[in-house]
Amino acid sequence: MDVQNDKTCNHCSVSDSDKKISRRDFLGIAAFWSCITAWVVTIAGLAKFPMPALLPDISSAFKIGKPEEIPVGSEKLYPDKKVLVKRDEKGISAVSLVCTHLGCIVGKTEQGGFSCPCHGSKFDSNGNVVAGPAPKGLNWLEVSRLPNGKLVVDNNKFVPEGTTFVV
Ligand code: FES
Repeated sequence: MDVQNDKTCNHCSVSDSDKKISRRDFLGIAAFWSCITAWVVTIAGLAKFPMPALLPDISSAFKIGKPEEIPVGSEKLYPDKKVLVKRDEKGISAVSLVCTHLGCIVGKTEQGGFSCPCHGSKFDSNGNVVAGPAPKGLNWLEVSRLPNGKLVVDNNKFVPEGTTFVV
């Protein structure tokens, strides 16, 4: 009786003995795919290389509405912009809430000033340093009017302390 040791594939006529690959072939295939993988990773890295890791905001300015929408004596916090906008008899002003020490976000105190939660700097209601380690006061930001009458605060344009947009 003739015994056949090779199993034959049901869907094809290739036997198990035909599927075996030599060590040399295996290493060749492994080297080939390693090279392909290395090239793909390299090309992906090069494609990303010219792009900065951190993209600046498209615009640092944001709208705060028309002057008549901001009542005299009011304050409005813009948490996502880290800015406090206030209006008094003189006009409308904006103060950055970014601490001038290491950039933490200051909070309002009950006394009307600002306090930094990171290292304890304290500022008065105009943003002047009352207690360090902050090296200087909070930045005041430019407020300007668009042609359509809406006001805009620019987070990147610092103005001297006390500067207000006169309405
Ligand atoms: S970041 Fe505000 S005191 Fe250090």
